Amino acid sequence: MLELSSIRVAYGQATALWDVSLSIASGELLCVVGPNSAGKSTLINAIAGLHRISAGQMHFDGQDISRLAPHRFCGQGIALVPEGRRLFTEMSVRENLELGSYLRAARAQRSQSLERVCALFPALREKLAQPAGSLSGGQQQMVAIGRALMAQPRLLLLDEPSLGLAPGIVLDLFEAIRRIHADGIAVLLVEQNVSMALRIAERAAVLEEGRIVATGHPDELMAQPELRRAYLGLDAAHPA
Ligand SMILES: Nc1ncnc2c1ncn2[C@@H]1O[C@H](COP(=O)(O)OP(=O)(O)OP(=O)(O)O)[C@@H](O)[C@H]1O
Ligand SMILES: [Mg+2]
Repeated sequence: MLELSSIRVAYGQATALWDVSLSIASGELLCVVGPNSAGKSTLINAIAGLHRISAGQMHFDGQDISRLAPHRFCGQGIALVPEGRRLFTEMSVRENLELGSYLRAARAQRSQSLERVCALFPALREKLAQPAGSLSGGQQQMVAIGRALMAQPRLLLLDEPSLGLAPGIVLDLFEAIRRIHADGIAVLLVEQNVSMALRIAERAAVLEEGRIVATGHPDELMAQPELRRAYLGLDAAHPA
């Protein structure tokens, strides 16, 4: 479904991604982990069309999207939940969600999509009229994910959705991600919460200093002591 071939992304003179090749199959849940500043957000934002790639190619469903204008990525079926959520805090929850369905095809399905989002996140149902900024951090993350789902994506990009949330909320959040994936939507998940993310992922990639240094089944990666220690932030001797 998504095929990255040796993509490079730079900020001025500083290269943040070096020849990254990665693929995501239709309906797959891929998790990308790695230390701070590894380039995880740069990768996810490039796939969302927010950063231009300076080398390499990106194909989505066979189409070359390498030079596509940023505003066209959503119409292709790619939706981003950015790091830090980026909600319009003074606007209502409903208005934030509806922003996700501004394109014509998604707008035609707006009420059905809203119903699906409320079924996935029941806590949002009675808060639709409230300003998004009045919600708890976990509920705001639900709004951010809901807004992306309103676009009816085939690929959902999640950049550190659990960041700063209480453990109980994180469990609910991962359960929601699992259900979104079970509905047939491909998910690329970037997470600091490595052990939780690897539990729901079908495949994982480790990014370090702008390069993919390992990919495989989560169990394979977890079995490699040096990966556990260096990149996954887990003690080599103890299971997660
Ligand atoms: N707008 C920018 N301008 C210049 N350099 C940037 C910019 N954004 C990121 N970088 C640099 O690119 C590299 C990768 O950053 P990126 O934010 O993609 O990492 P990350 O893996 O998402 O980190 P974190 O875990 O902190 O979110 C870092 O060295 C960072 O300093
Ligand atoms: Mg980041």
